[in-house]
Amino acid sequence: MYEPKVEGIKLESRDETGRVLSIRPVQGDYWLLRLHTPFIAGSAQPGQYVHIRVPGLEESALRRPFSIYGCEGDVLEILFKVVGRGSAALSRVKEGDTLRILGPLGNGFPLPGENSLHPVCVAGGYGVAPFHFFASRVPKGTVLIGGRTAGDILCAGSFPKNKWHVGIATEDGSQGMKGLVTRLLEEALQTHGGKAVLYACGPDGMLRAVGKMAESFGCTAWLSLDKHMVCGVGACLACVQKIRTPDGAERLVRVCKEGPVFEASEIVW
Ligand SMILES: Cc1cc2nc3c(=O)[nH]c(=O)nc-3n(C[C@H](O)[C@H](O)[C@H](O)COP(=O)(O)OP(=O)(O)OC[C@H]3O[C@@H](n4cnc5c(N)ncnc54)[C@H](O)[C@@H]3O)c2cc1C
Ligand code: FES
Repeated sequence: MYEPKVEGIKLESRDETGRVLSIRPVQGDYWLLRLHTPFIAGSAQPGQYVHIRVPGLEESALRRPFSIYGCEGDVLEILFKVVGRGSAALSRVKEGDTLRILGPLGNGFPLPGENSLHPVCVAGGYGVAPFHFFASRVPKGTVLIGGRTAGDILCAGSFPKNKWHVGIATEDGSQGMKGLVTRLLEEALQTHGGKAVLYACGPDGMLRAVGKMAESFGCTAWLSLDKHMVCGVGACLACVQKIRTPDGAERLVRVCKEGPVFEASEIVW
């Protein structure tokens, strides 16, 4: 039996009908969708996600998973990038349309307690989405946002000012520091040392690097894995990941159900 390390998060989810309140382009291929979903918006925790049945696709089409970008009152927000036909169809929904949304799903990030460790969130591309929600629940911290170019740096201005420090890195130097976001992380870890707790969401290469740095600085890192999902409820095993249990044994877990957040030291890459 796998004992999840993330505790205290309500796991009840529903297949809710969400009404589109607005859909607008953010920049480039990125869109912000606002939906009226009272149950999901009222019960979701940062780091959880929803599984959306995208209108305009055939009835048998799979749902698509998206992190929760924000929840305010009855309103749920999703920040997404158009990468294929599902996300393209989602960008074409109109105000007043209704969609089926299963959620909130997954375990989410364990929140740091008050006056405890300094949270340092590391985001790659649309991996910034769960940290926008996280920052609405955690009074202060650091968020480091990385991307290939300035067009991949999203929402840097939407973190609570004076309370959240925002660092930006782009590979081509078009915004912020030139280089990988993990260089900014190294600087942050030199400042906060073992008094930091890390959270990361983005491509696997970035997640692995964050995990290694956490180990060398003696910090805990919580990584949100991005796996292709089919059912989203633990039934199909499309999303399995190998992890190491405390007794040293290796086993497969379902990212959609037992994750998507795992402690870096558990993951077998
Ligand atoms: C837990 C979780 C949270 C996510 N949160 C967000 C989010 O907040 N915003 C966002 O834009 N996207 C997010 N994604 C990724 C999103 O689900 C995919 O981009 C989307 O399902 C692609 O659907 P599509 O039909 O447009 O693309 P497809 O036509 O299915 O695929 C187009 C391309 O995208 C790739 N792709 C498909 N699914 C994924 C995936 N899960 N990860 C990486 N590449 C993928 C395919 O390999 C292909 O190259 C998340 C994924 C997971 C598992
Ligand atoms: S997506 Fe089906 S088990 Fe995870």
